[in-house]
Amino acid sequence: MSHQQKFDSTFKATLTGIRQALFPAQSDRILTQNDRLEGKTCLITGANSGLGFAIAKQLADRGANLILAIRNGIPETAQILQQQTGNQNIEIEFVELADLGSIDAMIQRLKQKNIHIDILISNAGMVSAGSKKAANGLDLMFTVNYLAPVHLVQQLLQHQLIKPGHSTTPRLIFVSSESHRVDLPIRLDTLGQAIDYSAAKVIKYYGYYKLLLNLFIATLDRKISQSGNAAAVFAICPGAVHSNIARQAPTLLKPFLWLTFKLFFQTPQKASRPAVYLACSPEVEGKSLIYLHMMQDKKMAEIAYDEATGEALWTASQQLIEQLRRH
Ligand SMILES: NC(=O)c1ccc[n+]([C@@H]2O[C@H](COP(=O)([O-])OP(=O)(O)OC[C@H]3O[C@@H](n4cnc5c(N)ncnc54)[C@H](OP(=O)(O)O)[C@@H]3O)[C@@H](O)[C@H]2O)c1
Repeated sequence: MSHQQKFDSTFKATLTGIRQALFPAQSDRILTQNDRLEGKTCLITGANSGLGFAIAKQLADRGANLILAIRNGIPETAQILQQQTGNQNIEIEFVELADLGSIDAMIQRLKQKNIHIDILISNAGMVSAGSKKAANGLDLMFTVNYLAPVHLVQQLLQHQLIKPGHSTTPRLIFVSSESHRVDLPIRLDTLGQAIDYSAAKVIKYYGYYKLLLNLFIATLDRKISQSGNAAAVFAICPGAVHSNIARQAPTLLKPFLWLTFKLFFQTPQKASRPAVYLACSPEVEGKSLIYLHMMQDKKMAEIAYDEATGEALWTASQQLIEQLRRH
């Protein structure tokens, strides 16, 4: 796929996803059975479903201590993973990502437990059926796909729940999407405000929020490297995954989507490879800001690396979070 391909409609995005899942590009990046995670603590959001569950299973198989940050599937997700992998070091923390207060409460609990996170997998995300407001008055997809991961990682860093360990650098891995290559200008004056979009344009706005996430990721990487490389920042797009991401699609469309996903999209296990690779591989130690689309190295959209826009987004996001906290 060319780097310039745009995802301006749900239909086009689905076709592109099918093509990429059927004909994946080759990659030199290889995950081996020796890439293990004993002694490492990984926090993963959205671990009860789809890609997140598959990543959690792989990490549990590789010996990690897991914290599943989820709002559904409590406690059975941990029990299933314990049974399937034999790894008993799996805990659950409740978090509702549409509510920043819920993230703050989880941070306080992690602090009280004296948790030290080596690997963050910010995976949770959603596609709504059309424009929808979160309880905070902002756009729901903006809140869950952008503001929540931003707030979560900033709080984890601020409260020193993520800090360099003895031997390896903490890794912050964000699940983004190739759909971030949208043709929409970045607007900070209306950041997060609910926009009226139809079901046909949902993917365009989903992609726009992933673009904001990528811009934040590159800015976070710059800020961390300026302050002495306390963590490595990575992003991935898993490619098209047969997950529950279309759960809010119109009822009539659901059987068609389910069949398309089942026939043409990757299994969550296959799609989990880039996140698992970035979590475990010694090859990426000392590196940062790698973006893998499936297992292929790519550049994110050019605007994601723009320093001035990234700084402006950072500031606007901080102001928005402070404003939400005051209410
Ligand atoms: N599927 C694809 O083709 C595809 C392609 C590119 C990128 N991605 C990205 O992959 C990631 C995982 O998605 P998936 O495909 O595995 O979809 P999924 O099966 O629907 O899983 C999404 C996960 O996010 C959680 N989540 C959503 N809203 C939440 C909220 N408000 N608070 C807490 N947790 C919330 C869900 O929890 P609940 O079960 O409680 O709702 C679920 O665990 C997302 O970031 C998505 O954007 C997916």
